[in-house]
Amino acid sequence: MIIAVDGPAASGKGTIARALAKRYGLPHLDTGLLYRAVAANVQRLELDPTIEADAVAACDFDDHLLEDPELRSDEIGKYASVVSAHPLVRAALFHRQRRFAHQPGGAVLDGRDIGTVIAPDADAKLFIRATPMIRAKRRHAELRERGSQVSLDRVLADIRARDLRDSTRGIAPMAPANDAALLDTSFLSIDAAIQRAVALVEARTAAQVESP
Ligand code: CDP
Repeated sequence: MIIAVDGPAASGKGTIARALAKRYGLPHLDTGLLYRAVAANVQRLELDPTIEADAVAACDFDDHLLEDPELRSDEIGKYASVVSAHPLVRAALFHRQRRFAHQPGGAVLDGRDIGTVIAPDADAKLFIRATPMIRAKRRHAELRERGSQVSLDRVLADIRARDLRDSTRGIAPMAPANDAALLDTSFLSIDAAIQRAVALVEARTAAQVESP
C-alpha cells in the first residue's frame, strides 16, 4: 500500500505520515529532507540557490547529511523552498522518491507533490491543512524549543512566503491531487488528527476493495 501525505509547512503532515507508517508497518520517507539536504549542500559549497546549475550541483549529497539536525532549521527550510522550484533539481530527486514509493509492500511518503507527481497511483492520498497562524504558532514553538529566539511574526511571514513560493512555482506546485482526502488539523489535537487520518485511509482502501 502506498500512502501519499502532502501539505504545507507545519500542517502536521510529518507527524501524521510517521504515525501511519507505524500503524501499517510501512517504511516512511520525509521528502522535504531531500530538498533540505540540497539546500544545506548549496550553503556548504557556497553556491547560489537561485541559480539552477548551482542547485543541481548540490543534488549529489552524501546520505549521512539526511541525519543532520541542522537540516530542520528554518533558514534551510527557506533555501529548500528556493532550490525545489528548479525543474532540474526535482528531476534529480524524482527517481529516488519514486523507487521508495514503489518498493515491495509499499511506503508512506510526505511532501508537497507526492499524490500529484511522485505517486499519482497511491492507494490513499491525504492533503493536510491548517490556517497559516496556527501553523506559525506550531513552528514557532518548535523553533523556541530548539533554542531559537525568532519572533512569531517572523515565522508567520516566512510561512506565508514559503506557501506562496511552493504553490505558485511552475513545476509540481503544492496542490491537493483531485482524488486526495482533505484533512484540516487547525483545531485537532495530534491524536485526533492521527485518528482522522487513519479513518480516511481506511475509507479509501475499503472503497478500493469494494470496487476493484
Ligand atoms: O516541514 P516543512 O513543511 O517546513 O518543510 P519540508 O516538508 O521539509 O519542505 C521544505 C521545502 O522543500 C518546502 O517548502 C518545499 O519547497 C520543498 N518540498 C518540495 O518542493 N516537494 C516536496 N515533496 C517536499 C518538500
